[in-house]
Parts: sequence; C-alpha cells; structure tokens
Amino acid sequence: MTDRTSATATAGGGLGAGGSTGPARAANAARTAVVWDALVELLSRLGHGGPLEIVDAGGGTGGVAVPLAELGHRVTVVEPSPDSLAALERRAAERDVAVRGVQGETRDLASMFEPGSADLVLVHNVLEYVDEPAAALRDVVGITRGGGAVSLLVTNAVAGALHRALAGHIDEAHHLLGDPDGRWGEGDPMPRRFTRQQVLELIGGAGLTGESVRGVRTFADLVPGHAWEGDAHAGQRLVELERSAAEYPELIGVATQLHVVAHRD
Ligand SMILES: C[S@@+](CC[C@H](N)C(=O)[O-])C[C@H]1O[C@@H](n2cnc3c(N)ncnc32)[C@H](O)[C@@H]1O
Repeated sequence: MTDRTSATATAGGGLGAGGSTGPARAANAARTAVVWDALVELLSRLGHGGPLEIVDAGGGTGGVAVPLAELGHRVTVVEPSPDSLAALERRAAERDVAVRGVQGETRDLASMFEPGSADLVLVHNVLEYVDEPAAALRDVVGITRGGGAVSLLVTNAVAGALHRALAGHIDEAHHLLGDPDGRWGEGDPMPRRFTRQQVLELIGGAGLTGESVRGVRTFADLVPGHAWEGDAHAGQRLVELERSAAEYPELIGVATQLHVVAHRD
C-alpha cells in the first residue's frame, strides 16, 4: 500500500514520462494525470492486498505497464510490434521491474490467457488501429474476470475536428464531423476516432458496465507553447487544471481523449 500512496503523489509523472525532462515532462504529466489518477483509484478498489493480474493490450513500449509493475502488480503487455516490445524490455530494465512482453494482437488474447483470468485489462489508444473495435473489445472482456475492469482510452472524434479547425483546416474539420470513422480525409494517419456515444455503445455491446466517461487532455493540447516559458510551475498548474476539467461533463466534448473504466459483472 505504501507504494500505491507514493504513486498517487507522483500522479501524472508516472505514465510514459521516462527520459523526458523539464517542459516535456511537465507537458506529459498534464496529458496523463487524469488517466493515472483513475487507474490508481481503480487499483485500490480491485486490490485485495496482493498483486493484481494486469494485461495491457497493445501496450506499446510500456509507458503505462512499467509504472503499474513498479506498484507491485503482475503486468503482461500484448503487443504486435517487436520494436515496441524491445523498447518495453529496455524501459522495464531501466526501472528495475519485471514486465512480461508477448507478441500478439487483441484477437490472440483468448489463446494466451485463461478466460476471466485478468483483474484489469488496459486498452489504451488501440481501438483506433484494430480492424474491428467491437470484436477486439469482446476479446478483451473474455479474459477479464467477473468483477474485474477494463480501462478504455480512445481518441475523441469531436476534439479531432476542433483541433483540425484550430490548425486552419476548416474543410477537413467539417469532413471529420461527418465521417463514420472520424477521419479528416485520405491523408489522416489516424485510422479511426470515436465519439462519446460510440464509446458507450462499444462498452454496452461488449457486456461491460460503464462508469462515467472522463475527458483527458482537455486543455493540455490547446495551451500554447509560450505559456511554458519562464514559468517553472506551469506544468503542475496545468495538471491541476486537467484534473478539474475532468469533473466537468460539459468539457468532455473538447477533450482530446475519452477515458472509461468499465466493469465486467
Ligand atoms: C498509439 S499506440 C498506443 C500504445 C499504448 N497503449 C499507449 O497508450 O501508450 C497503439 C498500439 O497499438 C498496437 N496495435 C495495433 N494493432 C493492434 C492489435 N490488433 N492488437 C493489439 N495491439 C495493436 C500498436 O502496435 C501500438 O503499440
């Protein structure tokens, strides 16, 4: 429990901050604080004193998995990219923790894990890239135990349109709002974005009970770079702003990402 308490104190700095310094670290903290807060709170609710079984589906280079392992949990990253798995291994070694990395996709989860064996499965920024998001989420639910949880983080289509317009691409913003995949055009590198309604439908369709949707990176991606200059405390103030913003349902629409913690009954 001591470890978890200290993790709360560094909330926002823990996710994916390795290697960055100064303004870059502060910006990263502002982008991740809301998700990290939710995860730390969820872990204490799911926990019964011992380590939890956590699977990070599409966990990339371990930006979330490694800090979770540092809290004492057993974490497996299932990830298709060998390069990402190698980076995960390096990150875990640098932080002196064990994280199991397995090459695979969401569709492989059923063959890798016993049904209902995970206390928590993370699906962060992954449903944008899979062929069938609904099927991928069902695969995730299949390995989640009854009473366990799924942490889902996706890119918000509405915010995508806002950011596109703010960058001066008015027609692309308009296109995105009418596109079923939430893309601004053929050149859009993001295969898919989701509206809040689509997220709720995915969760319900997978048989999960959703908690409220939180907005992530509500302000962090909008604050201009010069706001950081000469202000050593700007990062922490932005973290606090993000935390407050996440409590305002009206602001979810403009948050870059949508985060939901959903439970399997
Ligand atoms: C934007 S990254 C997110 C990484 C990490 N979850 C995070 O939030 O930092 C998307 C990840 O999804 C992985 N991915 C793509 N298709 C996948 C699939 N079908 N199943 C599992 N992971 C997949 C990619 O290799 C990549 O690591």
